[in-house]
Amino acid sequence: MGLGLDNRVAIVTGAGSGIGCATAVRLAEYGAKVCAVDIDAAAAAKTGKLLSSQGKECKAIAADISTGEDTERMVQEALESFHQIDILINNAGVAGRSAPLWEQTDEDWAQIIGVNLTGVFYCCRAVLPHMRERGQGRIVNVASIAGKEGNPLAVPYSTTKAAVIGLTKAVAKEVTDRNIRINAVAPAVIQTKILEQVSQEHLDYMVSRIPMGRVGQPEEVAAVIHFLVSDDSSFVTGQCYDVSGGRATY
Ligand SMILES: NC(=O)c1ccc[n+]([C@@H]2O[C@H](COP(=O)([O-])OP(=O)(O)OC[C@H]3O[C@@H](n4cnc5c(N)ncnc54)[C@H](O)[C@@H]3O)[C@@H](O)[C@H]2O)c1
Repeated sequence: MGLGLDNRVAIVTGAGSGIGCATAVRLAEYGAKVCAVDIDAAAAAKTGKLLSSQGKECKAIAADISTGEDTERMVQEALESFHQIDILINNAGVAGRSAPLWEQTDEDWAQIIGVNLTGVFYCCRAVLPHMRERGQGRIVNVASIAGKEGNPLAVPYSTTKAAVIGLTKAVAKEVTDRNIRINAVAPAVIQTKILEQVSQEHLDYMVSRIPMGRVGQPEEVAAVIHFLVSDDSSFVTGQCYDVSGGRATY
């Protein structure tokens, strides 16, 4: 039992910003060696430097998780640096632009599905053979409350996040025999730069639905992710934990 992560190696995707950066900092604080992955090489390097300046072991990896080749390379680079992978945080994601379904283009749909859903599939597929072989692993997928309730002006986004919850529940059952636990978190509105992608109308709607009446901070999500990859959540798998100020109805 415990929250300590000494001698564990974690991959955090989308670690260059927001929830991913806060999660990288949090896991490192509790002893993990972190691979900070981002499509934005400079942002990944910035998080790497931040952790190094705190005396933590970290490797920055530039990778686009929406491509199978990059996710395979990400795993290889992590293994070359740290020889094992204990934790995967599938956090990288995009919101897409705010628009009703009939105004969403083929490109809008393909981009959001590619990053938010196919990216999670690729990363799990790349990491799980290694975790299965070692008989050890923890994965947290960052879904969204939009996947449970459905947000207007965000049909592609809501669709991917609902699918990530389904993926989490299904794959978790495939690996219980190998001591691998896989869970999801569903944040409501969190103060990060992803909010720059959505309109004021869309943002106002989402905030108005939060009973606690405020947006969340990335560190509040990172704390729940940390619990889910720690030994303290040893009997928890296939679940979706909300970090939503009370928004969800189930
Ligand atoms: N902020 C919110 O309100 C909120 C709410 C619910 C869920 N989420 C989810 O949390 C996750 C993190 O979002 P955030 O709010 O921290 O946003 P953010 O924009 O601050 O960070 C997302 C990071 O992902 C990276 N990224 C984007 N596409 C990528 C790709 N193809 N490959 C690798 N990296 C990529 C970006 O460069 C960025 O650094 C996302 O999955 C998002 O959907 C956010």
